[in-house]
Formats: sequence, C-alpha cells, structure tokens
Amino acid sequence: MRIFVSLSLVVLALSPLAAASQTAPTPVAQTPPMGWNSWNFFAGKVTDKDIRDSADQIVSTGMKDSGYLYVNIDDTWEGERDANGVLHSNAKFPDMKALADYVHSKGLKIGIYSGPGPKTCAGFQASMGHETQDAQLFASWGIDLLKYDLCSFRMVMQAQAPGDPAAQMRLMEAAYATMNKALKATGRPMVYSLSIGARDAPWEWGASVGGNLWRTTTDIEPNWNRIYAILSQQAGLEAFASPGHWNDPDMLEVGNGKLTLAENRAHFSMWAMLAAPLLAGNDLLNMKPEIQSILTNREVIAIDQDRLGRQGSRVYTEGEVEVWTRHLSGGALAVAIFNAGNDRYSTHPFHLQLSRLDLHGPQKGKDLWTGKDTTLTDNQPIELASHDILMVRIASPK
Ligand code: GLA
Repeated sequence: MRIFVSLSLVVLALSPLAAASQTAPTPVAQTPPMGWNSWNFFAGKVTDKDIRDSADQIVSTGMKDSGYLYVNIDDTWEGERDANGVLHSNAKFPDMKALADYVHSKGLKIGIYSGPGPKTCAGFQASMGHETQDAQLFASWGIDLLKYDLCSFRMVMQAQAPGDPAAQMRLMEAAYATMNKALKATGRPMVYSLSIGARDAPWEWGASVGGNLWRTTTDIEPNWNRIYAILSQQAGLEAFASPGHWNDPDMLEVGNGKLTLAENRAHFSMWAMLAAPLLAGNDLLNMKPEIQSILTNREVIAIDQDRLGRQGSRVYTEGEVEVWTRHLSGGALAVAIFNAGNDRYSTHPFHLQLSRLDLHGPQKGKDLWTGKDTTLTDNQPIELASHDILMVRIASPK
C-alpha cells in the first residue's frame, strides 16, 4: 500500500498535467462578468458607505443569487501617494482593506479602478510609473477586478510619439501589457478590464495584453438614443468574443434616467444577446420592483452567461425593426426582435422571415419576458411597442 501511494505521488509529480495545474493561473471571466459599478449612478460622489450599502442590496434583492458578483468602485476613490510612492485612498474611502473584507464577507468580489496615465479620467492619481506597486497594493487589499482607463495616457502617447499614430498605438498596448504583467506577478486572480474606446479597436489587441474585457465605445448614457447607438456599433464585433475575452459595450443603465420599462427591457435583453458584461449601474437602495425584476430575469441572464460564449449577431433589419440571434450551448438559439423606432407603427406590419434566420417551419420556444411557451412561425406578424423587444429561446431550432 505504502509503495503504491508513494509511486502514484511520483507519477503525479512527474505528470505534465500536474505541473501545469500547479502553475496555470486561475481562469477568470469564463462567462461575462456580472456585478455592479458605482459610476453610472454615483459618479464622483461615491463613498465607502455607498459601496457597502450596494453590496448589502445585491444580497438582499436576490441579485447575488441571480449571478451578480463583482462590486466595482469606479473613479474618485484615489488619494495621494506618500514619500514611498504608496497610493492612499481619499477621505471618502477611509480603509480599503476593511471595505474589501466587508464585500468579501457577503460572498461577493470587489473591483477597483485606475489607469496607465499619470491621472484618471476624473483627474485623480493613476498608475503611471507605479504599476508594480499599485498591483501589489490592490492584491494586498484583496481586489478581484481592475478597470484600467486610458484617459491621460493619450497625452503621454502624443508627447512621446508626436504625429506617429502607429508608435502611439504601440505605447498604448505596452502600457496595458505592463499592468497585466504586474497583476499576474501578484499571483492573485484579477479580472482585467480595459477602458479605451472604439477608435483604438481594443477588440483586436485586448486579449494579447491580458484583457478579459475591453470597452468598445465611449460612455453610455441613460437614454435610448445613446443605448441604441452603442448597440449598433456592436454588430460586426462577434468574432472577438469568447470565454475569458469579452466586448464591453459599457455598464448597464437599467433603472437610470428616464428610460421606459420597454427601453430597460430591451437594453438588458440586448446586452445579454451581446454576451456583454452585466454590470448594473443603478441606485440599488432605491430600486423599483419592476427594475429589480428586469435585472434578475434568470432566463435572460442565462442567455448572457451561456457557456459557449458566442456573441449574438444582427441578422436583418426591416424598417426600424431589428432581428438578432445568438447561438447557445446544446444547439439552442436566442432570437431577439425589437422596434428601434419611435412609435409602434414605424414598421407596420412587421412580418418575421424565419428563412432569413436559417429556420424552417414553426419553432417552439419560450418568451423570456412573459415566461410563456410560444411558437414563432414564418411570416408571423409581430407588433412591438416603441423600443420594446420580443426575446425567445428556442431549445431545438429546426
Ligand atoms: C471614463 C469611463 C467611465 C468612467 C469615468 C471615470 O469616462 O469611460 O466609465 O470610468 O471615466 O472618470
């Protein structure tokens, strides 16, 4: 027996698989990260208390049980560096380690924000020249996600490579790679979220610098025009999404501004079709029940979190109605049909053409907003209120 045990230990120790499993970093973001971020509602006013309250609410509203995990502190937590270069939080955040411990005690994870330039977008201290130190500091606090925002680094690029966009791009990529190396060197698994914008096409190079998600647009706002403009920019980026690597059309505005219920539903549904990170950005302490039920619709969340990790595509548009599909694990298919127009009759009547979705004959499915079984048929007239959506999961498309 003893010989057998020690022999198998030797075999285990020598096996390449065992060696790999000892050194391989823990994979993160195998499905799009879910959670909440402080920026869209609190912006520069966010405090330690807001983060704690939000963590409490994520638990008590059922959001945690629905998959929301990361509680992310965005910009304006930063204070000054001391004589040793150590970055301190400002008076709004008296003790980051205690805050991280609190969030962890709820079974949640905590995210933080910095950038490769000297200053963040809101003008606070960022990480340029202090990447290793900051990564170590974040790890010592127990941080689980870093959003790293370009902002003032663009000025650095322009100063270091004036008039040479290609050299500027190399500097940008190198800056993101530097922080990735520093994060990996801590040994703590952290999701790495790149915040850059469309003009630098981060979907093309984000994965090569360790990014798990990369912003694909400038900032979202809580109004339909902006949400729809962002959505339109996502068509064509499908090929760049896969487990561990996600296009990020920005954080959710569900429950913010004056979005109608239809707009909130359509926004949430389409972010799920896009395999986008689902980072709520609303005031969780004062969340209306109808917003809570949108954010915790488990079947829509399941589309977002589908383990195949394939981003949905716009298949066709007719007038102002758009038809998108997303291929899911097990051969299932999600179909989303929404009216982008400003009135119910903007495209009337709309008739669904199943053959354009490569579907043939009646398709049995489930309407994910009514929870009822439904059948999509060829040439079916579908009437949708302005900015509203029909989202159907077809388990066995034919
Ligand atoms: C940029 C980002 C936002 C937010 C702010 C903070 O605008 O795109 O998401 O992080 O900076 O200053």
